Amino acid sequence: MSALLPDKILKQTPQQLRLIIGGSSGIGYGVAEACLELGCTVIISSASASRIAASISSLEEAYPSARSRISGYACDLGNHETLDSNIVSLFEKAVQEADGQLDHAVYTAGDALSITPLEKTTLEKIQQAGMVRFNAPLIVAREAAKYLEKSNTSSYTITTGSVSEKPHQDWVIVGCYAGSNHTMARGLALDMKPIRVNAVSPGAVDTTLWKMPDQEKQEAFRKWETKMAIGRVGQVEDVAEAYLYCMKSESNGKCY
Ligand SMILES: NC(=O)c1ccc[n+]([C@@H]2O[C@H](COP(=O)([O-])OP(=O)(O)OC[C@H]3O[C@@H](n4cnc5c(N)ncnc54)[C@H](OP(=O)(O)O)[C@@H]3O)[C@@H](O)[C@H]2O)c1
Repeated sequence: MSALLPDKILKQTPQQLRLIIGGSSGIGYGVAEACLELGCTVIISSASASRIAASISSLEEAYPSARSRISGYACDLGNHETLDSNIVSLFEKAVQEADGQLDHAVYTAGDALSITPLEKTTLEKIQQAGMVRFNAPLIVAREAAKYLEKSNTSSYTITTGSVSEKPHQDWVIVGCYAGSNHTMARGLALDMKPIRVNAVSPGAVDTTLWKMPDQEKQEAFRKWETKMAIGRVGQVEDVAEAYLYCMKSESNGKCY
């Protein structure tokens, strides 16, 4: 990723410690890159220890001078039985590394989209789809509130998506959780105050979330692009800046 921000803004951003849950790929990885470019220390997390290790290696390769500022821990958020304890343990490890103080938490974790025709919808599918996209960001908020400095310079940023406002057929489960993430951010902004809480709501972005074969993916993207005002699917760099904005203490333009 090339430098995102001009020197004037870079100079104003102090060195900080940022925990990025979902930082092993896609949008979260892009946010990790951007944070490293700003001189911050970054802890990434995802479900898989091997993907964390691979992502740390590629970040180290891209930013050799930042090696000492990159680390990561596995934390599976998809299992009802272990969700709460895994998050508690993630924060304990992150805070130990941070010497007691985290400045920002970012939540971009997302598992496979539960795109399900209504007739195939089951209680189990609904509940499982909410594990990573609803239950986890709320439990993360509880832990983040314990460890983030109680200041309006700290922040917690979660992720929703444009399906929260623009429905697609068979996406009702995904859409409901995406809609609830807006409400979650607004509620948490009160419950976590003065820590700032925001939700970023991207449209389609070219990431590993789209797991179909490349040709199929390109065909889907071209189809969506005909309906998009700017005529192209977003890139991670386009979206990463939104998270940087939310982390900046001066950011209050569209904050909840
Ligand atoms: N890409 C888009 O077009 C788009 C549009 C709107 C909204 N969004 C939302 O943005 C968020 C990030 O999406 P993305 O495009 O960056 O997807 P991505 O590239 O697939 O990244 C998802 C991240 O979540 C982690 N993850 C998946 N399952 C997990 C689990 N059970 N526990 C902990 N971590 C888990 C992944 O790591 P591991 O696989 O290593 O666990 C990865 O770090 C998602 O909530 C997605 O719905 C994406």
